[in-house]
Amino acid sequence: MTPHNHAKPGDYAQAVLLPGDPLRAKWIAETFFEAPRLVNSVRNCLGYTGTWKGKPISVQATGMGQPSLSIYVHELINVYDARTLIRVGTCGGLNVKVKVRDIILAQAASTDSAIVKDRFGAFNFAPIADFALLRSAADKADAAGLHYHAGNMLSSDIFYHAYGFEGYDQLPAHGVIGVEMEAAALYTLAARFGVSALTICTMTDCLITKEEIDAEARQSSLKEMVELALDVAVEA
Ligand code: HPA
Repeated sequence: MTPHNHAKPGDYAQAVLLPGDPLRAKWIAETFFEAPRLVNSVRNCLGYTGTWKGKPISVQATGMGQPSLSIYVHELINVYDARTLIRVGTCGGLNVKVKVRDIILAQAASTDSAIVKDRFGAFNFAPIADFALLRSAADKADAAGLHYHAGNMLSSDIFYHAYGFEGYDQLPAHGVIGVEMEAAALYTLAARFGVSALTICTMTDCLITKEEIDAEARQSSLKEMVELALDVAVEA
């Protein structure tokens, strides 16, 4: 039990999917899990445990942004013994080669967040995905014929940048392909506590072309992404 989570020790599987949206956590549990069981509802930040293809699996919503995700992930690792953490989310596109609906596997996560950058003094720590999870996700995405890109994600603390895209255009100029708000903190916490993490996102809005996903495509793309993440999670 923590101030943010009333689950008991043992209520979570060692592999946990991490959507930002609590209702997406509910949808994942009710759509994909066998025998889903609600384990947390503090602040409506829903968490469930069940099985996928017969293997134990959990999902816990993280809320939006790195401060919120950091609370849930810190507690999942240190109170509930989670060992494999896979964020499933959406991201903006920063490269025209990444099309709406494509999947981004965040191989690394750049950030403007003080949560990450202020801890390392003169050094710039590079938050990276767990290689085994990344390789497994890429292999499975290849086998399923999914359109995906592995590359550098921007995890920004700011959604509404005062100067729009121009504020961070040096990042795409250095190969950053997507923008979301959580991966860098997830990878930094996983590194700190010696566990495995990956971020998988569906690209829903391209900041360059302004193309956006429609509601129907959003749902079918999310389904593909969640199935991929579940397969990676239970084999880890
Ligand atoms: N910015 C930040 N996070 C996002 C975006 C975006 O454009 N799209 C989906 N998540």
